[in-house]
Amino acid sequence: MKNVKAIIFDAYGTLFDVNSAAEKCKDKIGNKWESFANFWRTTQLEYTWLRSLMDRHKDFWQITENSLDKSMKTFDIDSSMRNELLNLYKILSPFKEVHETLKTLKEKKLKLAILSNGTPSLLNELVKSNNLENLFDDIFSIEEVGVYKPSSKVYDMPVKKYKIKKNEIAFLSANTWDVSGGGNYGYQAIWVNRNNNIFDNLDFKPRFEIKDLSGLLSEL
Ligand code: LAC
Repeated sequence: MKNVKAIIFDAYGTLFDVNSAAEKCKDKIGNKWESFANFWRTTQLEYTWLRSLMDRHKDFWQITENSLDKSMKTFDIDSSMRNELLNLYKILSPFKEVHETLKTLKEKKLKLAILSNGTPSLLNELVKSNNLENLFDDIFSIEEVGVYKPSSKVYDMPVKKYKIKKNEIAFLSANTWDVSGGGNYGYQAIWVNRNNNIFDNLDFKPRFEIKDLSGLLSEL
């Protein structure tokens, strides 16, 4: 990768494990915890896309609650678990290599930032609860533009703030559609493919695919 001036990370699924809330309740939820977690995540993302298309914005926390309610009904999960799941969603665990990799990147004097669907308060709390608050220069939330990824208005935010070219940004996401969104926009988009998944057919193929964030260190 050449001419990179800023490294921008997606949050949910890339830095933080979105399944970790349900996983921490697996004794109560039982074997279906993982299917339930995947359904909750898929529904949450569908709601972001649908609300953007319908022009009916609700913030990411409201969408997280709304999608949880549908998922709990679908998987017949007792309503007494609602608050526990939501509280755990506010303090999702980071993937194991995140802290060390960010610390190493910080020493390289590049701009490091998050660009996420999350609200500013959700993202600040996540970063703080995981002791990552001193590692980022900025946390960009879509609330500033009122529309969800993959709108180009979202990917525009760091370009405008840092006054750099689109291709001077390395953008990392584990969400294939977000890699396509950022790549089609003009970022050097890198796919964090933790689970050996298949990439999308959305006009963009990432130049690099890494197994976890530490794979970035050898590409810089
Ligand atoms: C985010 C979602 C896409 O953090 O994971 O923006």
